[in-house]
Amino acid sequence: MGVKKIFSGVQPTGNLHLGNYIGAIKNFVDLQNQNNECIFCVVDLHAVTVKQDPKILKQNVRETAATFLACGIDPKKSIIFNQSSVSAHSEVSWLLSCVARMGWLNRMTQFKEKAGKDKEKASVGLYIYPVLMAADILLYDATHVPVGEDQKQHLELARDISKKFNTDFNAPDFFKIPEPLIQKNFARIMSLKDGNKKMSKSDPSELSRINLTDSDLEIINKIKKAKTDTGSFPTSVNNLKSRPEIENLIGIYLSLSGNKIDHLFSEFKDKNFSFFKEKLSDIIVKKISPISKEIKRLNQDPSYIDQVLEDGSQKAYELSSRKIKDIKKKFGF
Ligand code: AMP
Ligand code: TRP
Repeated sequence: MGVKKIFSGVQPTGNLHLGNYIGAIKNFVDLQNQNNECIFCVVDLHAVTVKQDPKILKQNVRETAATFLACGIDPKKSIIFNQSSVSAHSEVSWLLSCVARMGWLNRMTQFKEKAGKDKEKASVGLYIYPVLMAADILLYDATHVPVGEDQKQHLELARDISKKFNTDFNAPDFFKIPEPLIQKNFARIMSLKDGNKKMSKSDPSELSRINLTDSDLEIINKIKKAKTDTGSFPTSVNNLKSRPEIENLIGIYLSLSGNKIDHLFSEFKDKNFSFFKEKLSDIIVKKISPISKEIKRLNQDPSYIDQVLEDGSQKAYELSSRKIKDIKKKFGF
């Protein structure tokens, strides 16, 4: 297969967790190591769609970049930068907001969830957030976008905006139609306390998620306390029906071990959940412990992180400058 142009973003809103790792960052690393052209962005402009403390935001931008590095993204192979340092993102977002239709944005379920009951009080930024995301992707002619399942609808919107722009301006191949890269199995990691809610940075319960900075003991403890049920360990896929917590723990196990589900059923046949949880903790600790240590080490070296971001921003600036010139020309500016 040819080289893919990869773009993805992660919000610097603290507490990156196992869901971010399995749903997104793990794939970023694989795509990079398959020699694709990769750009990974800390999307700080998206973060300010809800109120942020400026000092904490700056720290979170560094910590998100440190997490990319600790997980295996290599600044010699991939571009790592923060969105607000390249002004083309905001500029193209405005231009694309004149292409996107209100009706399309009105369908976005994430806005409805995040805005809650009082939509009148949500920021306008939160509403047009998916247009900024489309700008991020289209500005670099990205062909493939690795994301978790919750971003699928936003990706479809980016594809619609791209197609409409190409039609409106009679420029058939001007923007690429980006393909989502979403894991087929276990694309959505759920809360350890409620199998119907996704694992999230904003969940008030620390026990609901494994943070990528958790210590080994914290991981072991959280898995011990993870919700299961009174049934016995499943022996087939049919046994997983209506057991979202069990399905989630098994999903985490399979994603991190690379084992097949049939192998798991035979490995844990006749065993109880506490035995499975011990093995699950072992696997998570083995994966997360080195990442957690490396994030903590990098957090002690903010000037190195700032340098990585600055170098990445320079490269992103160069790539985006060419495209934005062409975009403006199309509008007649
Ligand atoms: P965010 O932290 O919302 O910026 O998300 C960063 C990336 O992680 C996106 O690609 C999300 O789709 C993905 N992601 C976030 N939460 C989860 C989850 N619970 N399960 C799987 N992927 C997730
Ligand atoms: N909206 C994405 C999220 O919250 C983050 C994001 C912003 C993104 N721009 C992007 C992801 C471009 C992929 C491509 O997870």
